[in-house]
Amino acid sequence: MTRDVAGYAGGARPSEQAARFGFAQGLIREAGALALRYFKDFATLQVFAKANAQDVVSEADREVENLIWSRIREAFPEDGMIGEEFGLRQGRSGWDWVVDPIDGTSCFVHGLRSWCVSIAVRCDETSVLGLIFDPNADELFAAERGGGATLNGLQIGVDSRSALNEGLLGFGVNHRVPSSAIAAVVHRLLDAGGIFIRSGSGALMLAHVACGRLIGYYEPHINAWDCLAGLLIITEAGGWAAEFPGHGDFRAGGPVIAAAPQVRSELLRVIADD
Ligand code: IPD
Ligand code: CA
Ligand code: CA
Repeated sequence: MTRDVAGYAGGARPSEQAARFGFAQGLIREAGALALRYFKDFATLQVFAKANAQDVVSEADREVENLIWSRIREAFPEDGMIGEEFGLRQGRSGWDWVVDPIDGTSCFVHGLRSWCVSIAVRCDETSVLGLIFDPNADELFAAERGGGATLNGLQIGVDSRSALNEGLLGFGVNHRVPSSAIAAVVHRLLDAGGIFIRSGSGALMLAHVACGRLIGYYEPHINAWDCLAGLLIITEAGGWAAEFPGHGDFRAGGPVIAAAPQVRSELLRVIADD
């Protein structure tokens, strides 16, 4: 089957990509609205433990992922999807959707507003679209490869401060990584005069790097559905991001490192021995 070439540098956009970009913006808002309805009643949600008692999933995560998959299947029946809760649905078109229905589930089930929906679209294994929607703030971050990044339709850019000690570094922590490695990074960051923020949603913190609220983001291990959308939005907003491990098992995850370009070397030094 023929397929438009992914990515564009301004000018006429490949129609298959443009169709998915328009569709994805409506989809992520619909998914966010459904999640928000569950969130209003978070105290009654059914919550289940996954790898450990801090790694949880709720009925809301599953229903939002089901909604996203059913809409994609209707609109683009040959596309594949990998979602956090239900795994891989193999496609045949070369287009794949990478979905975290709710990123920040711990916050969600405890009634904190730090969560979002994250959707990346890949064409032949290259991320070409990234969308992150924060329903509580009504903020939609979106990017198309080669087309820049926006927040609610307005162009965004990364932080212009020149050093880590002038900005806020997003730092993701989880029980997949030894506590000694986390502690070492915290020590070096504080010694360098920096400070960290952990909001509980890696995807949302990446979106906040893209619009300059955070100067960078680091997490020693994260999954593709947490970060692919955010990484594209950051690079399209003028930021730097280390390539996310995509070879071999795409589902294995790896470190996520992204920042305003002028603090890249300093950030790499802070995480160097990790
Ligand atoms: C988690 C959040 C958290 C990050 C973890 C992720 P979830 O995703 O993004 O901030 O530190 O690595 O697994 O479980 O809330 O979708
Ligand atoms: Ca997640
Ligand atoms: Ca999730």
